[in-house]
Amino acid sequence: MPLVTSKELLLRAQQEGYAIGAFNANNMEAVQAIVEAAEEERAPVIVQISAGAIAYAGIDFIRSIVKTAGELATVPVVLHYDHGTDFDGNIQCLRSGFTSLMFDGSDLPLEENIEISSRIAEAARACGIPLETELGKIPKIEDYEDLLPSSYDYSSKLPMEVQERVAALMAEPEQAEEFCALTHCDSLAVAIGSVHGMKRDIQPLNIQRLIALRDRTGVPLVLHGASGVLRTREDADRMAIRLESYEGTLEDAIKHGLCKINVGTEINMCLIRGIKRAFQQNPRVKDIRKLLLPGKNEIKQTVRSLIRLFGSSGMAGAASESTGLVESVVKHYE
Ligand code: 13P
Ligand code: G3H
Ligand code: ZN
Repeated sequence: MPLVTSKELLLRAQQEGYAIGAFNANNMEAVQAIVEAAEEERAPVIVQISAGAIAYAGIDFIRSIVKTAGELATVPVVLHYDHGTDFDGNIQCLRSGFTSLMFDGSDLPLEENIEISSRIAEAARACGIPLETELGKIPKIEDYEDLLPSSYDYSSKLPMEVQERVAALMAEPEQAEEFCALTHCDSLAVAIGSVHGMKRDIQPLNIQRLIALRDRTGVPLVLHGASGVLRTREDADRMAIRLESYEGTLEDAIKHGLCKINVGTEINMCLIRGIKRAFQQNPRVKDIRKLLLPGKNEIKQTVRSLIRLFGSSGMAGAASESTGLVESVVKHYE
């Protein structure tokens, strides 16, 4: 089916208590793997393309790849712009046919974040396209490199000083309420303890803060940096990671209203792992497809298991029947 917007998908997820997976892709193999996994799970899915991915692949190529994958699929597929940091980038994606946008003004003073977010939201709304904004700052693990001991292997919680710095960047519920009212954004990326770019899933979330943000804002809330977040309480026990009373896992966060979950690093790591393993098994290989295919399959298996964890498995049919997603397709991009 043609690409759909994220608006109805997220509202339905919010109503019914599950989350939609939003997976970053940089090339054809990743897009195919994500959409095939969603198809096999009968799940709606968001394929997200960052500014870096656009710089790498070119906007026309990457848009066309996702559009084709969506058209061949029988589940709803969204083409989302991830972490756009300016007005122009968002408008270029709007014009190019993206069906969901994000403005990340988290490095800007609050007033400027509000001002640019509302301008983009207004332009996008005129075209029927929803906008995700960001409040608080979801940092990158690279920001803390000098605070990580050389022996740190991501099998235990991040060092206390890093935890404190991450916590200091979290979104304030009262500010979030005002931010949503002023920007008219459709969804909000909230800093609740996650960190971008982690290679293992060990970081707990501040569930108390998530609940406060959910109750104040009312819009679907988005988690970034999910590659590094603890998935379940069983995982926490297995890794001997002790959770404070206010902390929880991805599973807990979904129960408390998280609607969109962004996974990027894990997708890249799957591709790297699959290629590396295939090359080690057959170092004389000449056919690049024999390396790329195991990478693609590794992404597919991971996306399928994440979709099941997020609770969106089997939700494709229900979503398209009850919300008229086919009608909400952005026809003027056809
Ligand atoms: P990770 O790369 O840490 O999974 O973060 C993905 C993300 O937040 C994309 O916006
Ligand atoms: O949150 C960021 C995404 O993982 C995209 O990262 O800018 O390296 O493409 P990137
Ligand atoms: Zn992100």
